[in-house]
Amino acid sequence: MGFAQLSRGRSRRALALALCVWSLISLSCAARLTDSSRQQLDVQKHLNRLNKPAVKSIKSPDGDIIDCVHISQQPAFDHPYLKDHKIQMRPNYHPEGLFNENKVAEKTKERSNPQVQLWHTNGRCPEDTIPVRRTRKDDILRASSVKAYGRKKQRSIPKSADPDLANESGHQHAIVYVNGDKYYGAKATINVWEPKIQQPNEFSLSQLWILGGSFGEDLNSIEAGWQVSPDLYGDNNTRLFTYWTSDAYQATGCYNLLCSGFIQINSEIAMGASISPVSGLRGSQYDISILVWKDPKEGHWWMQFGNDYVLGYWPSFLFSYLADSASMIEWGGEVVNSEADGQHTSTQMGSGRFPEEGFGKASYFRNIQVVDSSNNLKAPKGLGTFTEQSNCYDVQTGSNGDWGHYFYYGGPGKNPNCP
Ligand SMILES: *[C@@H]1O[C@H](CO)[C@@H](O)[C@H](O)[C@H]1NC(C)=O
Ligand SMILES: *[C@@H]1O[C@H](CO)[C@@H](O)[C@H](O)[C@H]1NC(C)=O
Repeated sequence: MGFAQLSRGRSRRALALALCVWSLISLSCAARLTDSSRQQLDVQKHLNRLNKPAVKSIKSPDGDIIDCVHISQQPAFDHPYLKDHKIQMRPNYHPEGLFNENKVAEKTKERSNPQVQLWHTNGRCPEDTIPVRRTRKDDILRASSVKAYGRKKQRSIPKSADPDLANESGHQHAIVYVNGDKYYGAKATINVWEPKIQQPNEFSLSQLWILGGSFGEDLNSIEAGWQVSPDLYGDNNTRLFTYWTSDAYQATGCYNLLCSGFIQINSEIAMGASISPVSGLRGSQYDISILVWKDPKEGHWWMQFGNDYVLGYWPSFLFSYLADSASMIEWGGEVVNSEADGQHTSTQMGSGRFPEEGFGKASYFRNIQVVDSSNNLKAPKGLGTFTEQSNCYDVQTGSNGDWGHYFYYGGPGKNPNCP
C-alpha cells in the first residue's frame, strides 16, 4: 500500500469516525431529551396527584406553602378502597377519656405557648379543610425516582428482634421496646431537638413504632415522631412526621400524606410541617406528645398530637397484622449512616449528646405507655433496650413519679470511640 492510499484510508476512517461520533451524540442527546421530558411529565403528574385544589394557601416563614384542602378532597380518597368511605369525625373510644371538659379546661390553662407549628404565625386553615404541606418539583427531584419520593429509601427494619440484620442497611437505632403481648396503642412525650445531619441523604428521627407481624416481608408498621431529613424536605428543620407500611417498606405506605392511606380530620396540624421552637443545650426544653391507639369498634388506628389535636386515622384495612393488634412497640431514635468502609457519619441522634449527660443536654422520651387489651394506658412491662453501636448512639432507661417510664437516648455519631 502506497503512502497516498494509506492517507486516503486514514481520512476515510477519520470521516467515518467523525460521522459515528456525531450520530452517537445526537442519538444519545435525543434519548436524553425524551428521558428528561418523560421525567418532567411524570413529575408533573405526581405533583397533580399530591397537591389537591386549595381553599386557601398559607406561606410559612420556613418557605413551606400550606394548602388548606377540603377534607373530602384529601389524598386518602384516591385509594380505591376509600372511594365510598364515610369519614369518621371522632374516635368512638379514647384511652384517656377524650372530650372531658374539665380536663380540657385544665390543659388550656397549662398551655403557655400554644404555637406549635411555624406556619401558624401566618394564618390558619378554615373549618372543614385540612392543612397539607405543598409538594414542589424540587422535593420530587431530590428523590431517586418519582416512585421513591415520600418512601423510606432502604428497608429500615428496627433491628432489635433480628440482630442478624444489624448494620446491614446503615440504619442505626437507640431504642427501647416491649414485645410478647398484644398491644393496642402507645404513647410518649418526646423531647424536640434539631440534630445536625452530615449528608443530605442521611436523616435523624425520634419516634414510636407500632409493629405487627414478624420482621419479614410483611411487617406492618405505624410510626410517628419528629425528623430532620434534608432529602425529603429540602432543609434541616425538625418536622412532625408519620409513616406507615404493611409490607416492610416495600410497595405500600409513605411519609405523612404523600400517598393515600391516612385520613386527616384536623384543620390545625400539618404533617411534615416544622415544629417550633426546639430545645437548646442547657436552655429551654420543649417536647411533644404523641398517642396512637386502636379504636376497638371500627378497628382504625387513631393519632393524637399534644393534648388537643386528634389528627385522624389509618383505616384498619390498610394492614394485615395490625388489623388485629400490634405485637411490638418501640420508642427511640434512628439515623442513617451512609459512610462506607467502616467509617462513621457525624449525623447526630437526639440532641447529639449521650444519655448520661441527662436533662437539658441529652434528649429524652418520658411517660412512655402502651394501650393494653382492655384499652387502657399502662406502664410498659419488661422493657428491653437495643443499639447497634453504643459508642455512637446509646440509650439509658429509668422511672420515677413525674416521668413514669422514661429514657435518655442519642449521641454524636462519629467520635474517638466511634471512628
Ligand atoms: C443543612 O446542614 C448542613 C450541615 O449540617 C449544611 O451543610 C447544609 O447547607 C444545610 N442545608 C440547608 C438547606 O440549610
Ligand atoms: C455493628 O458493627 C459494629 C462495627 O463494625 C460492631 O462493633 C457491632 O458489634 C455491630 N453490631 C451488631 C449488632 O452486629
